[in-house]
Amino acid sequence: MPSQTDVQKLNTHYHTLVAKSPVILEKLEIVDKIAKTDSSVLILGESGVGKELFAEQIHLRSPRAKKPFIRVNCAAIPEGLLESELFGHVKGAFTSAVANRQGRFELANGGTIFLDEIADIPLPLQAKLLRVIQKKTFEKVGSDISITVNVRILAATNKDIETLVEKGEFRNDLYYRLNVLPIYVPPLRQRQEDIPELAHFFLKKFMAETKKQIEGFSNEAMETMLSYSWPGNIRELENCVERACVIGKKPWIQREDLFLKITASSEQDEGNRNLKTAINTFKAHFIRKVLEENNWNQTESAKALDIQRTYLSRLIKELNIINTKE
Ligand SMILES: Nc1ncnc2c1ncn2[C@@H]1O[C@H](COP(=O)(O)OP(=O)(O)OP(=O)(O)O)[C@@H](O)[C@H]1O
Ligand SMILES: [Mg+2]
Repeated sequence: MPSQTDVQKLNTHYHTLVAKSPVILEKLEIVDKIAKTDSSVLILGESGVGKELFAEQIHLRSPRAKKPFIRVNCAAIPEGLLESELFGHVKGAFTSAVANRQGRFELANGGTIFLDEIADIPLPLQAKLLRVIQKKTFEKVGSDISITVNVRILAATNKDIETLVEKGEFRNDLYYRLNVLPIYVPPLRQRQEDIPELAHFFLKKFMAETKKQIEGFSNEAMETMLSYSWPGNIRELENCVERACVIGKKPWIQREDLFLKITASSEQDEGNRNLKTAINTFKAHFIRKVLEENNWNQTESAKALDIQRTYLSRLIKELNIINTKE
C-alpha cells in the first residue's frame, strides 16, 4: 500500500503552463470557472497539446488544490490490472493479490483523479466507472463492501471519442456523463503566438540541464518554427528545442539545428488556420525582416515600411516580434 509520502510525491510534480495566445488565455479563464465545481471534465485535443497540463490547472485552481492529484494512464496499464489499479483489491482476490491494496480512487480521496487516455478503458470497466461518477461508490476487486469516496474526475483523450461511441467501443452513457464540461485544447498551429514563448521556455530549461550557454534563436530559426505546422504539437517543439540545444554549436540556434522540414504538408495546414492568423504571421515575418535590415532601429524601419514609428512599435508588441539578438 503506498504510504502518505508516496501520495505526496505523486502530488508534487506539476508543470509550468506557458500561455500567451488569446485562445489559450481564454481557455484558462474557462478553467478558472470549472475549477470551482465538482463536475467531471473531458479534456480533448491532439497528441502533445498539453491536456495533462490543463488537468493539473483544473486541480490547482480548485478548492481541492492541496489534496492529492492522482494520474492514471489507462493505456499504459495492462487490461487485467486496470480494475485493481483503479479500485484496489482484497487479499486473495486473484493469484498475485497477496495483500489488500488501495486503488487510485481511494488515494485520490478529497482530491482529483486524472484518467488519461480514457478511450482505452475496456467496456466492462466503463460500467464500473460510470457508477463511481454517478454514486461515488465502488467495490474493491474480490470484495462486496462498498466504498464511498469524494473524488473529482478529469479525463482526457486524443482519440475521436464520438466515433468510438458510434462504433459501440465507448459507452455513450459514460461519454455523456464525462462530456458535461468538455475542454478542447487547440493544436499549436492554431496558436502561433505561443511558439516564441514556449521555445524560449524550453531553451532555458535545457540550457540549465545541459549547462550550455545559448543566446537564443536566430531570426531564421524563429521564422522556421513559426511557419512549421507542428503535427506533434508542444511535445514536438520541446523535443526539437532539446535536440537543437544539444547539437547547436553556435551561440545562436540556427535554422539547420532544428531539423524541421517545411514540407508541402505544413503548407496544406494553412487551410486550418484562420485568415487573421495567417495575415498576422505574414506581417510579423515581414516586419521582422525590415527591422533586421535596419539593425532593429525602429525609426529607420518605420520609414522603410512607410508607417508611423508609434504604429510600428505597437505592431511589434501586438505581433510579439522578439529581437532574438538582444
Ligand atoms: N502550455 C505549455 N507550457 C509548457 N509546456 C507545455 C505546455 N503544453 C504542453 N507542454 C509540454 O508538452 C508535453 C506534452 O504535453 P502533455 O503531456 O500535456 O500533452 P497531451 O495533450 O497529454 O498529449 P497526449 O495526447 O500525447 O498524451 C509535456 O512535456 C508538457 O510539459
Ligand atoms: Mg497526455
